[in-house]
Amino acid sequence: MAHYQGLIHRYRDRLPVSDSTPIVSLNEGNTPLIELFRLPRQLGFSGRILAKFEGLNPTGSFKDRGMTMAVTKAVEAGSRAIICASTGNTSAAAAAYAARAGIASFVLIPEGKIALGKLAQAMMHGAVVIQIQGNFDDGMRLVQEISAELPIALVNSVNPYRLQGQKTIAFEVIDALGEAPDYHVLPVGNAGNISAHWMGYSEAVCQQTAACGLCKGQCPYHGKPMATRRPVMLGYQAAGSAPFLRGGPVSNPETVATAIRIGNPMSWDLAWAAVKESGGWFDECTDAEILEAQKLLAQTEGVFCEPSSATSLAGLIKDLKRGKIKPGSTIVATLTGHGLKDPDTAIAQSPQPHRVAAERPAISDLIQRHL
Ligand code: F0G
Repeated sequence: MAHYQGLIHRYRDRLPVSDSTPIVSLNEGNTPLIELFRLPRQLGFSGRILAKFEGLNPTGSFKDRGMTMAVTKAVEAGSRAIICASTGNTSAAAAAYAARAGIASFVLIPEGKIALGKLAQAMMHGAVVIQIQGNFDDGMRLVQEISAELPIALVNSVNPYRLQGQKTIAFEVIDALGEAPDYHVLPVGNAGNISAHWMGYSEAVCQQTAACGLCKGQCPYHGKPMATRRPVMLGYQAAGSAPFLRGGPVSNPETVATAIRIGNPMSWDLAWAAVKESGGWFDECTDAEILEAQKLLAQTEGVFCEPSSATSLAGLIKDLKRGKIKPGSTIVATLTGHGLKDPDTAIAQSPQPHRVAAERPAISDLIQRHL
């Protein structure tokens, strides 16, 4: 098998790049689609649940898919610096890809509200880390203003190349399953990712159908085996940061799932279109439900995702229990980031380690009590 070189190489015929585009990549994408076995049984669900584990991207989240494209295009356009606002993962990815490209990065993060691993990444990759006394929404407004004024490329998901890169997740799911799933569930924060998933699935269908009528056989991928349909899209939010459930911006978003602590999502219309066109819906989960799902996944399937990512599963569990999901369906859940990003939250909700003397009898005793 050829050496995998990242998603732009793999899907270059479906991305806005040319032969002369200088690709900035850390071999992102190609993440595992892990079938969950114990959870569906436990939930009494007759269908399949598969986790697309985006935590296994190079910087530990799905942001790498968008960042390889955004930084590639920024470099192609001659930019020497990038900027973003972030709840953590975007800043980690921006810092890493800027380092890879040899350009500068500036990241605005809400003070005290980003997970430790993400902060460590941004700092370690050499970003100029700017902690603001405000939330993500404040940061988003500021970087839009600053990038309009200074020669610096904005790499938040309002940059269309971000969604272009992120849409490749849908291609990978279809490549793995041979078809689109019945449902695709994911957490929603700034709402770029659900929009990108829908874009990917939509392109995959259009490209496949000989009679699609849109490209009339002119597109480079016309007729390639892809999906014949699109999934129902389900977007889940944290209850304290759920503008899609409230019908408009939330001014003081709050949740333990800090990655999705966002009150004024940028991709509002695109996300609504994804949900409506697919026959899906938005729903919300409490912090307790999110943490419970995170733990359940870690302890019944061996998959450790960050709290925000577990919102996929928390919402899905509720919808399965309410009978809103058709029995026998195939469901893909995007697990957007790795659990190691947020060790504090993981440790805070786990029992403390046992403290014992470094002696065999004490340890054997302890083990026997747990057998
Ligand atoms: N899950 C994780 C782990 C995230 O980091 C994010 C967003 C989302 C879900 C939501 O995705 O915004 O496309 O709806 N994180 C951004 C950041 C906002 O700055 O890292 P979305």
